[in-house]
Amino acid sequence: MTQVLYKKVAIDAAVQAGRFIRGSVGRIQDISYKGKTNLVTDVDKKAEAMIIRKIVAAFPDHSILSEEGRPRERSSVFKWLIDPLDGTTNFVHAFPFFSVSIGLEKDGAVVLGVVYDPMRDELFTAQKGAGAYLNNKRIKVSDTKRLSESLLATGFAYGVKEAADDNIANFRDFLMQARAIRRAGSAALDFCYVACGRFDGYWELDLNPWDCAAGTLLAREAGGKVSRHDGSAYSHYDKEVLASNGRIHHQMVNVLTKKA
Ligand code: IPD
Ligand code: CA
Ligand code: CA
Repeated sequence: MTQVLYKKVAIDAAVQAGRFIRGSVGRIQDISYKGKTNLVTDVDKKAEAMIIRKIVAAFPDHSILSEEGRPRERSSVFKWLIDPLDGTTNFVHAFPFFSVSIGLEKDGAVVLGVVYDPMRDELFTAQKGAGAYLNNKRIKVSDTKRLSESLLATGFAYGVKEAADDNIANFRDFLMQARAIRRAGSAALDFCYVACGRFDGYWELDLNPWDCAAGTLLAREAGGKVSRHDGSAYSHYDKEVLASNGRIHHQMVNVLTKKA
């Protein structure tokens, strides 16, 4: 019963915030810089406040870690991981690829993931051990077996201009070996696209738990594999991630570890 309530609150919060974000395209009131290229708008902050209000009203004793706010630490085994607007740069430019991402952690493991794409009205949901869904229909990863026939995704961190590893070598290596690569601009949706078979694999270098908590559960529950770049065990607190349909995972590890 409580599981149902967690899911319901997460979906209500994601859809309400997503509709607000969709209605705010082209009507941003305030943009500021968190870094050289890292933008935040009044819409990110208002969407976050909407989500947190709903979660706190339903579960006042749960902890919360969200991108724009201060962490709310409680003694509960439950922690919500929230990215109110994943794809802010796209949103600012009215490039219609962004999402709301809400994950729920219990004793350190993600047990619920909800990602909502308000421009396509696509709601991705997963519960640990219960599969992954897109608009209530079960989804699974692709069955592509060869990297050469794969459509991959990646992203570049805001700190890329100063980063020791700018991901360009990986990008070039995959470009030469895969069918094609997309850099669409919302990590949460990149994971969900792996989950529903639109992408065969996705890697990135410098992510945060609110980008990954919900999406990695979606990819796993859809039958995919999630690891660090060398294939070792992944936690959503790790910066680097590799998610795939499982079948091409080893080939991607070989490229990322420069063995192929
Ligand atoms: C960003 C997006 C982007 C990824 C960046 C993230 P934000 O999140 O997910 O696709 O490449 O690493 O920081 O800042 O738009 O929430
Ligand atoms: Ca994000
Ligand atoms: Ca964000």
